[in-house]
Amino acid sequence: MTEETAQSGAAAYRVLARKYRPQAFSDLIGQEALVRTLTNAIEGNRIAQAYILTGVRGVGKTTTARILARALNYRGPEGDKGPTAGPTGDCSICQAIAEDRHIDVIEMDAASRTGVGDIRELIEGVRYRPVEARYKVYIIDEVHMLSTSAFNALLKTLEEPPPHVVFIFATTEIRKVPVTVLSRCQRFDLRRGGPPTAACATVSRCWTKPSP
Ligand SMILES: Nc1ncnc2c1ncn2[C@@H]1O[C@H](COP(=O)(O)OP(=O)(O)O)[C@@H](O)[C@H]1O
Ligand SMILES: [Mg+2]
Repeated sequence: MTEETAQSGAAAYRVLARKYRPQAFSDLIGQEALVRTLTNAIEGNRIAQAYILTGVRGVGKTTTARILARALNYRGPEGDKGPTAGPTGDCSICQAIAEDRHIDVIEMDAASRTGVGDIRELIEGVRYRPVEARYKVYIIDEVHMLSTSAFNALLKTLEEPPPHVVFIFATTEIRKVPVTVLSRCQRFDLRRGGPPTAACATVSRCWTKPSP
């Protein structure tokens, strides 16, 4: 492969990835159980204080976490609507969340910030109310990487979280997450969707609708 084709291939992939990044629960392929459970919870106003999403890399944990953050914070175009499991593109708060620029949705990668100081800094803000959104959503990726003392600090907050806070943890290694933390979370195991199409054969993170 020449350098030029390699580059245009990478650019084409980025366009493809952006184009097909699911923006709503209905776009998620092969996660029917998760979508059904979360839809029922949102419609029944039974929102958990902490969720944990587990599965291999590329299975949709970050995608799902961001969709959930928008669903919980949906206010609609007039600002008068409640949480929804439907599309959220007509809500300015959700648009900001989708573009990763909303102050009330905080993402941390625990793989690079494993220490108790990191988690203390993060949960310091938990007691303050959200600035604009309904919930302050803390998305902690690779949560299993936290140190023991960091988990203990987190656990204190998980035991008595303020009502305006929702935690969404993601992990590829659920067995490394202490049971004390797990027992306070609603857990979802994400699985691979349909088989890759030929066009996706070189792209490991690619999803297709399973044939009926
Ligand atoms: N259920 C799904 N349906 C359709 N596309 C998906 C699904 N899960 C993941 N993807 C696609 O795969 C890519 C990687 O997903 P991501 O959420 O980053 O995975 P993870 O955080 O588990 O590593 C996303 O950009 C998205 O386009
Ligand atoms: Mg991820």
